[in-house]
Amino acid sequence: QTGKFTYDPGFLSTASCNSAITYIDGDKGELLYRGYPIEQLAVNCDFLETCHLLLYGELPNSDQKSEFVNRVTHHTMVNEQMHFFLRGFRRDAHPMAVMTGLVGALSAFYHDSTDINNPEHRDIAAIRLIAKMPTLVSMAYKYSVGQPFIYPKNDLSYAGNFMRMMFATPCEDFHVSPVIERALDRIFILHADHEQNASTSTVRLCGSSGTNPFAAIAAGVACLWGPAHGGANEAALNMLEDIQRRGGVEKIGEFITQVKDKNSGIKLMGFGHRVYKNYDPRAKLMRETCHEVLNELGLHNDPLFKLAMALEKIALEDDYFVARKLYPNVDFYSGIVQRAIGIPVSLFTAIFALARTVGWIAQLNEMIADPEYKIGRPRQLFSGAAPRQVKPIGER
Ligand code: SDX
Repeated sequence: QTGKFTYDPGFLSTASCNSAITYIDGDKGELLYRGYPIEQLAVNCDFLETCHLLLYGELPNSDQKSEFVNRVTHHTMVNEQMHFFLRGFRRDAHPMAVMTGLVGALSAFYHDSTDINNPEHRDIAAIRLIAKMPTLVSMAYKYSVGQPFIYPKNDLSYAGNFMRMMFATPCEDFHVSPVIERALDRIFILHADHEQNASTSTVRLCGSSGTNPFAAIAAGVACLWGPAHGGANEAALNMLEDIQRRGGVEKIGEFITQVKDKNSGIKLMGFGHRVYKNYDPRAKLMRETCHEVLNELGLHNDPLFKLAMALEKIALEDDYFVARKLYPNVDFYSGIVQRAIGIPVSLFTAIFALARTVGWIAQLNEMIADPEYKIGRPRQLFSGAAPRQVKPIGER
């Protein structure tokens, strides 16, 4: 008996939990936040209304919205010491390395919101994190390009404030066009939550130890970075640019052949999903947003967008992808939109983290508020050596 036995690796990914926040029907390609279809939220609401919905379970009325927006707006600045913390990084550090550090560092500054078991602490931590993520992401960007940080302005919208902190300089202010502002706000909505994905499960598991909310969200940022998860939008755009360099649409067939070759290790980034075995509803909305933004910017002939649509068409008709129910996911078009509005590729996943922060917090708070919750402890199926005796080194 070696003590070894077979086990199903899938078992390790089937840990489940109860939640009332987001519902996904992978076969139908449906996504609902607190019962509202994503298609309706993306068109009829803005991101901060969606944050209110995810956090408190209801869309706000106009008074509730004003109060919520006011709270978030007045927490957009970060402690000045965070600027010095950031300056410890190399200028060429990946923004997700910087964000992992900055978000975790918030727990060193806001002691009135670190007790995860205190509902008031949790609520102020939620407001602070939602408010400060755009400031931190824009700081990471400004630091990487050697420009001074731009402070938030309280008379701007959430998306407008972010774009100004990204692209204004002391020499010249920046005003985002309403179409771009709305497109970015919609991108935030589409990325806000997605049930028990890898980074959300990470946040739940981390928070279940009783650590502070900032540390738990920092763990989610670290997990989202992976190319199989939130890093896929950066990888998808790099993939499209690579195909474009090699000859564009004419080279799609060659690329698809490589993807089908298991030994190539090449994936069609922005395609496939652990849950959706139909078209990711977010990808449809992202493609529409792409159209709107590219038309607004006079880029409707953008070669990468044309390449993406050609690649999608071919993949959706190819038996390999059809048999495996591989459809575009949220990451397939999001990179093209962000690139069109001037966001550097390296920042795509940081923006995903900015938007997903509200979902992580809502899921964490839901778990902590459940009196039955205990520290997470996934079970293992042991497949190592059977018990044995230590021999003196001369006999090993
Ligand atoms: C996100 O979980 C979430 O909700 C995540 C997310 C969120 O909002 O939080 O939606 C965000 O992470 C979206 C996914 C972004 N990742 C990518 O786009 C990277 C490329 N996609 C793959 O890495 C993959 O599709 C996964 C990781 C997303 C899912 O992997 P699975 O679970 O292995 O997919 P599957 O079981 O459906 O795969 C079935 C088959 C396998 O081949 P066989 O072994 O059956 O021959 O399809 C293959 C896979 O190898 N496959 C792909 C593929 N995705 C799966 N082949 C080529 N290209 C792909 N993209």
